[in-house]
Formats: sequence, C-alpha cells, structure tokens
Amino acid sequence: MTLRWPAEAIWEVVSPLLPGFTVEILPEIDSTNTELMRRARAGQTEPVLLVAERQTAGRGRLGREWKSDAQGRGETLTFSLGLPLVPADWSGLSLAVGLSVAQSLHPRLKLKWPNDIWLEDRKLAGILIETASVGTQRYAVIGIGINIVAPTATDLRTPPADLREVLPEVLAPDVLAHLVPPLIQALQRFEQFGFTPLVSGFAERDLLLGREVVCTDGTTGVARGVNASGALLLHTVSGLQKISSAEVSVRPQTNPACAN
Ligand code: BTN
Repeated sequence: MTLRWPAEAIWEVVSPLLPGFTVEILPEIDSTNTELMRRARAGQTEPVLLVAERQTAGRGRLGREWKSDAQGRGETLTFSLGLPLVPADWSGLSLAVGLSVAQSLHPRLKLKWPNDIWLEDRKLAGILIETASVGTQRYAVIGIGINIVAPTATDLRTPPADLREVLPEVLAPDVLAHLVPPLIQALQRFEQFGFTPLVSGFAERDLLLGREVVCTDGTTGVARGVNASGALLLHTVSGLQKISSAEVSVRPQTNPACAN
C-alpha cells in the first residue's frame, strides 16, 4: 500500500508556531531518533518532523530494541520531532508528551507511567525522548512509535494493542496529521508552565492509579498518582515513596534489576 503523507498540511499548521519547521518523510532509516541525534550533534538544530515508513534499528527506552512494521506499509507509525527546547524545568516532559498523544488519539487510551500508552492493559505506543546539548542550546528529540495494526511480534511479555481496535480503518498518515500540531502546542505550554498544570489530566488517564505495582528493584506498593515533577507516588509498607526513574510493572517480576 502506498501511503500518502500529509507533509504539506502539517507544515502549514505548524510553521506559524515553529519558525523554520520542516517535515521529512523517508521510506527507510535506522532510527528516526538516531538520525535526529546525529544531526543535532553535527549542529543541525532546526525544528523538524522526521517520519520513517520503516526503521531498521528502532530504539526503545532503557536501551531496548523497538521492533516495528518491517514492510513499511503503515502498520506502525514511527516518527521523531526534533526541536530546541528551553523549559525552566525538564521534569515531567515525557509524561506531558504521553498525555498529549493519548488525548489526541482516543478517550480510552491510558498512560502507564512514565509515558507508555496502553489500551486495556496492553501497550499501544511508546515514547523515547533524548536531548543533545549544542552550544548553549538543548535540542530535544521526541520519538514516538504507535501500533496502527497489531504487530505480529510474539516475544513481548504482554501482547501489544493497536489503534484499529478503537479506530477501525485508521491510517498512519491521518494519525500523524491529527497528533503533531497539538503535540507542538503541548510542548510550548510545557516550556512555559511545566508539568504542574497537567497533573490532573494525567490522573484521568493513569493506568496505574490505585493498582498494586512492582518496581524493578522489587519495591511493591499501590500507585497513588504522580506529583508536579512527574514522579510516581507509591504507597509502600514503609510509607509514600517517590519513584523517578524505575520501571514499574502491574504484575510480579522474578528478575529485578533496579534502575531507580
Ligand atoms: C519505548 O516504548 O521503549 C519507546 C519506543 C519509541 C519508539 C520510537 S519509533 C520512532 C523513534 N525512533 C526510534 O528509534 N524510537 C522512537
């Protein structure tokens, strides 16, 4: 299937908000995040939306691989947004991105702290945020991968979800056009106001809220939402703990490796 990407339509909406913005669609690349990080390190720090129909070395959080649609037929939407960002406080950025994406996509989508997007207890989309320091500037690369059609990969602990479960027939290019402009507005609001105004919006979609969770260091507790810095609040036997950088699971784990 040949995909028709709405590059011009996105550019028209976004460029007044983000001067110098460009949109690039590539049939194939190793990873859209890797490419924008390479460019940033080489001094290219203009705002850009880079979409790849196929990634040969997609990357996930914590050094994991991100497998996606090997054929490039729109079964997965993979893109990165690169832009200079100057927030007063970076904490909560990844949660703000997840919230914007979930809000743009569907009311039934939930957020699994810190920024995975889930549908009915299965992962539907992932977000990888990286930053590069270029001179005095910080350049943020926000990579997003969304399952449009259920992936056939079977080595995942939990079978993935896909957007067609809630939006039958939806196409990757339409999803892109729908979520990029609000994402840019959300980033600009985040730059000005930080995560604090988003705490209640996150709570409305918080998959973990009130649930028993297990942290990668073995800590267990009941999730009590997130604070204004985007840390997960966990009610444990030794009191309320703030989790800033662990992975959490809603099921017991047998091989913990603490990342906190
Ligand atoms: C995760 O869930 O661990 C994050 C997955 C992020 C995947 C996207 S796909 C577009 C961009 N390029 C990458 O290599 N990774 C991100």
